[in-house]
Amino acid sequence: MNQPFAKRVTPGPVLGVETSCDETGVAIFDPARGLLAHSLYSQIRMHADYGGVVPELASRDHVRKLIPLVRETLAQAGLGVGDLGGVAYTAGPGLVGALLVGAAVARALAWALELPAIGVHHMEGHLLAPLLEPAPPAPPFVALLVSGGHSMLIEVSAIGRYRLLGDTLDDAAGEAFDKTAKLMELPYPGGPALAKLAEQGRAGAFRFSRPMTDRPGLDFSFSGLKTQVLLAWRASDKTAQTKADIARAFEEAVVDTLAIKCRRALAATGARTLVVAGGVGANRHLRQQLADTGAREGFQVHFPRFEFCTDNGAMIALAGALRLQAGQFETAAIKVQPRWALETLAPLA
Ligand code: KG4
Ligand code: ZN
Repeated sequence: MNQPFAKRVTPGPVLGVETSCDETGVAIFDPARGLLAHSLYSQIRMHADYGGVVPELASRDHVRKLIPLVRETLAQAGLGVGDLGGVAYTAGPGLVGALLVGAAVARALAWALELPAIGVHHMEGHLLAPLLEPAPPAPPFVALLVSGGHSMLIEVSAIGRYRLLGDTLDDAAGEAFDKTAKLMELPYPGGPALAKLAEQGRAGAFRFSRPMTDRPGLDFSFSGLKTQVLLAWRASDKTAQTKADIARAFEEAVVDTLAIKCRRALAATGARTLVVAGGVGANRHLRQQLADTGAREGFQVHFPRFEFCTDNGAMIALAGALRLQAGQFETAAIKVQPRWALETLAPLA
């Protein structure tokens, strides 16, 4: 699709804006020079008082932080807005109010500068984040995407050509970490807190099941595991050591389950490269176990650096730059459709 008033389509540095949840992320990626700058503002402290993300507060904070962060990132890169070649932003999935802040700022900037705007899929951003590292993976590969909202295994035959192999049937891996942490009264955000506590846990003190590994298939279900932890926690003496032991057993169960499904997905597709991304990809135990299995079984494993596992602007700038290079960007905000099949309309109720 061509944007009629886009001044340039030769990609220059692309500004990336991420506001899908509780992190305001901004970065600049240049197809020729790589990542030039990135900044992140985390709202975690604000939401901690409520024990979870409050969508309305998230939107308002993105409004406060986004434009100063854009200025800061441009300064870091030594660029002015006139040097940009495109503006990418997370178009979904995510919290709608939060997404709208990033979309409005990014599209207004693109419109004012007469640049192409690129609406990026948040999960494609995560999936491509390992490409920001040295010796990046090349398709075909299998991607394990594990975040607060998703646990997915995807066959990537080319960038942009994705086949869903397995999905979450209930709680996503990150969500399971967060909910389990909450029921054991750990502070928000639960995932990293539970992982930290697990380091003090003793191996073998508790054991939880590896859900859905006793049957074929690549889907995930973690909500039963959370219930097992709840029952063990209630019946326990609730000492600090027991809490750490339960955290360790929970983490081991999730990591083992993810590792088993990754091996299955590699076997099913014949791929020899695994890419792991999303917030849970920052889990040290998961990284170690997958790296060890890969070394033993002869497949390569790629992770983004820790800070690019969780939400960030760099992955959005990169994904936007790749789409822009491929000539994919958006038309101006006013849309009409010369061809429009009547059957594609949504029913009123
Ligand atoms: O990708 P992300 O930043 O946001 C979403 O797109 O959801 O992922 C956030 C999730 C949260 O559920 C968080 O608890 C989890 O990633 N997480 C972790 C760790 N760091 C973040 N889970 C386990 N171990 C970690 N070290
Ligand atoms: Zn995310």
